[in-house]
Amino acid sequence: MESITSNLIKLLLLLLLYFLPCFHAKSPPTSTLPLPTKSGYLPVNPTTNSAMFYTFYDAQNPISPLTQTPLVIWLQGGPGCSSMIGNFLELGPWRLNCDKHLQLEPNLGAWNRIFGLLFLDNPIGTGFSIASSPKEIPTDQYSVAKHLFFAIRSFIELDPLFKSRSIYITGESYAGKYVPAIGYYILKKNAQLSESQGVNLRGVAIGNGLTDPVRQVATHAASAYFSGLINGKQKTQLEKAQLEAVKLIKEGNWSEATNARNRVLNMLQDMTGLATLYDLTRKVPYEFELVGEFLSSEGVKKALGANVSIAWEDCSDVVGEALHEDVMKSVKFMVELLVKKSKVLLYQGQFDLRDGVVSTEAWLKTMKWEGIDKFQAAERKVWKVKGELAGYVQKWGNLSHVVVSGAGHLVPADQSVNSQIMIEDWVLERGLFANEQEANPSSSSTGNGFYV
Ligand SMILES: *[C@@H]1O[C@H](CO)[C@@H](O)[C@H](O)[C@H]1NC(C)=O
Ligand SMILES: *[C@@H]1O[C@H](CO)[C@@H](O)[C@H](O)[C@H]1NC(C)=O
Ligand SMILES: *[C@@H]1O[C@H](CO)[C@@H](O)[C@H](O)[C@H]1NC(C)=O
Repeated sequence: MESITSNLIKLLLLLLLYFLPCFHAKSPPTSTLPLPTKSGYLPVNPTTNSAMFYTFYDAQNPISPLTQTPLVIWLQGGPGCSSMIGNFLELGPWRLNCDKHLQLEPNLGAWNRIFGLLFLDNPIGTGFSIASSPKEIPTDQYSVAKHLFFAIRSFIELDPLFKSRSIYITGESYAGKYVPAIGYYILKKNAQLSESQGVNLRGVAIGNGLTDPVRQVATHAASAYFSGLINGKQKTQLEKAQLEAVKLIKEGNWSEATNARNRVLNMLQDMTGLATLYDLTRKVPYEFELVGEFLSSEGVKKALGANVSIAWEDCSDVVGEALHEDVMKSVKFMVELLVKKSKVLLYQGQFDLRDGVVSTEAWLKTMKWEGIDKFQAAERKVWKVKGELAGYVQKWGNLSHVVVSGAGHLVPADQSVNSQIMIEDWVLERGLFANEQEANPSSSSTGNGFYV
């Protein structure tokens, strides 16, 4: 049944691609196109028709029985940006590019190589997700987490084989709020539920995240100045604007604080003239419009099980507006609980000027956690892949921090294979993520021999 459905979907997608303006005459062989194992809608509560759109790709080459193969969940940021950006531009099994024509290419760095990978359009109102009324769109992280919890549990119930699989929640940018929020909610809920009803959360990973805005917003001036992008006078101007944002946060004037942060970023954009603050080395911005073009096709929507009457947008203004007052609220305290009860990975592409390395270090070192001094004292190790510098890894206990070389805000888009190695080794506790206590020469080598 399932394979018939998936073959049909495969056929449909191939046919449809043929008619897209960017279609490349030479299509990849059908057998290499991993379509979603499952996709469609998950309910977010028992009483309304609101629903979260998902695409799920099970592991391509699992190294364990499926019942023990980890599930990785991906949440895009925004607020209000669709996880289909992550799916089709970053870590999914196919990536879009437009080399004269729009085409899908197998992604060698896909995060579903050995894990199941679930993309959720979160919160409702985002991407293909459905909000039955605008009032139901979350305005705070508690409501975001409540919907996510319901959706994730509904997903697990779709297949008896999902129940026993460990779950890792990952995401990028504004998901630096969502990921801790759902992780924290799961820990609280699990404490009230029997083991069989809970969610088998083992870790959370945040890429270039906004998590503790009050400290992060204060780092842009220094970060840009020491990168040589602004001069001393501009640094002073930017610092003044940053202080205004901090002041508004301290006053609890949340909406104005969000506006003040936007002013800081706009100033930085004007001063530097960069193509994008997401990556100071880029000559052109990331190509979100490729995903828009692909998902505007009615046939593609049908094949993916999305509601065809929804016009997909990369980021929803309605959702962005709903969460406007939430933007500057910190969820650092949630990470502080998560690091005691599960693993936490914070990773950043080195070239990001919005939520980059300096911005993360600023709040990381203020974490209230018994291991923080040991983490701060831990060696920052040079990470190499096939002899080339891939970045830096610092780890102590449940906390890992990775700086990814040659990447901006969308790490898996820029360094797909290295990002895959990072997530796999972190989940499986291999290579530089092996536990100190257990590390010995034979157990610390990675399965693929990529670490040197
Ligand atoms: C928020 O800040 C703005 C700008 O400083 C000010 O006009 C407004 O009165 C403040 N609102 C509240 C509720 O303090
Ligand atoms: C599809 O989306 C439209 C517009 O949001 C909505 O009115 C309709 O109820 C949805 N259809 C289904 C089957 O959910
Ligand atoms: C690390 O997380 C595990 C659960 O994965 C937990 O049992 C342990 O207590 C945590 N360690 C510390 C030092 O907080």
